[in-house]
Amino acid sequence: MTIRARLIASTFLLQVFSLAVLGGGVLAVRKQYQERDMRAKAATITKTVERAALDALIQKDDVALLSYLKFLQAQHPAIAQAQIRWKNQGRERAATVGALDFGSRARETRFTVADPADPRRSVEVDIMLDDSVLWGPYVEETRRLKRIILLVWGGASLLGLIISFLIARSLTKPIVELSRLAGEIGGGKLGGKLEWESDDELGGLVRAFNGMSGRLEEFDSIKRNFVSSVTHELRSPLGAIESFLQLIREKIAGGTPAGFAQSAEFLERISVNVRRLSGFINDLLDVAKIEKGKMECVLRPMELPAVATKVCQFFEAKALQQGVTISNRLSVLPSVIGDADRVRQVLVNLVANGLKFTATGGQIWITGEQFRDGGARWIEVTVGDTGRGMDAADRERLFQPFTQGRNISEGVAGHKGTGLGLYIVKSIVDQHGGKIEVKSTPGQGTRISFSLKVAA
Ligand SMILES: Nc1ncnc2c1ncn2[C@@H]1O[C@H](COP(=O)(O)OP(=O)(O)OP(=O)(O)O)[C@@H](O)[C@H]1O
Ligand SMILES: [Mg+2]
Repeated sequence: MTIRARLIASTFLLQVFSLAVLGGGVLAVRKQYQERDMRAKAATITKTVERAALDALIQKDDVALLSYLKFLQAQHPAIAQAQIRWKNQGRERAATVGALDFGSRARETRFTVADPADPRRSVEVDIMLDDSVLWGPYVEETRRLKRIILLVWGGASLLGLIISFLIARSLTKPIVELSRLAGEIGGGKLGGKLEWESDDELGGLVRAFNGMSGRLEEFDSIKRNFVSSVTHELRSPLGAIESFLQLIREKIAGGTPAGFAQSAEFLERISVNVRRLSGFINDLLDVAKIEKGKMECVLRPMELPAVATKVCQFFEAKALQQGVTISNRLSVLPSVIGDADRVRQVLVNLVANGLKFTATGGQIWITGEQFRDGGARWIEVTVGDTGRGMDAADRERLFQPFTQGRNISEGVAGHKGTGLGLYIVKSIVDQHGGKIEVKSTPGQGTRISFSLKVAA
């Protein structure tokens, strides 16, 4: 049985049951009122007869009581029979008015009235009130009430069934859709999302599911990028090394001085590719450490300008070759708390990016500025360039591992890279308790800033 059917059946049965209980309650209360009315009616009749009996006794007119009883019987057909016993100084005389039908249920009331002037004279009256006649007016009323209750019960049950169906459908619709989408995701079709807006638990479930689906798609794209990056980043330097080794072998076999000179040049090319390979493997190891939460920075006071100078020197030759100027504008700054090697890695990555995306004639600079946040003093280091910049979509995906911006497709000087640099940079800055911020405009350049705490 589906959840929808169970929901419909249970809500429907519940409301049918509660309506039945309500209807039963109304009937029971009505019956109590009728019973009270009927008792009051019987008491009134008895009282009237009692008064007539007393009058007859005082006036010593027995016939008057009999004729009054006959008159009362005509007025109140509920009086089925009345037996009268006169007692006068030990003598007794009886008379009966009317007769009780055989088999009919009667309510018996008996009383004795004595003459106030002569207590030896008394009259005993036994009145039989016919129950079916007393109930007569109420039977029809009860029947009408039952009909109304039944009609309301049927109508409300039908309406309830329709409402139960609509509620069950609206509750189970997203669940059915979610299970269909989950099946699709299980079958490898990732990224499916459900359009559903509500502030209840279902809305929360759909939002969580959509988030999970988006993350799965992201992970899948990271995995695909990872495979292609690893394949490319391992194959191309290895291929180059292999070719240069073959060339060196041939040059050495030639045995000419020019061949030896060229071999030295090829060895340099081999060492460039080995550096590229080891750089990539180091990045992969860093990513693994970050994922395991084991990227640790040894934080101690350090001098930023010195590190920045070394980084600029490291890129000097490449920048010259590319026709880009790098300027270190970090002047006298207080010491900061950081891991000098990791901060150097951050600057290397940022300057390398600047060089990668800045054409000949462009500029790259490193600046530093002090600011206060709460009680602490910080230094914000910015690496800026006048390069191609990036659009909002690229800026959003900047810090995801194995993800590169679309601006990479315009081609870069040197190798394309793998999209790990800024992911590692952000993790290092996070480890230092700092923040990283990107400002970039397509065609105008990029500024990436990160903050480090000033040493006490
Ligand atoms: N200075 C910049 N100018 C323009 N785009 C940039 C700049 N820095 C980063 N980006 C964009 O951000 C993306 C991610 O940068 P990131 O450093 O993580 O990877 P990468 O440089 O492409 O590769 P890797 O650093 O692994 O060699 C880049 O591919 C590029 O699209
Ligand atoms: Mg990079």
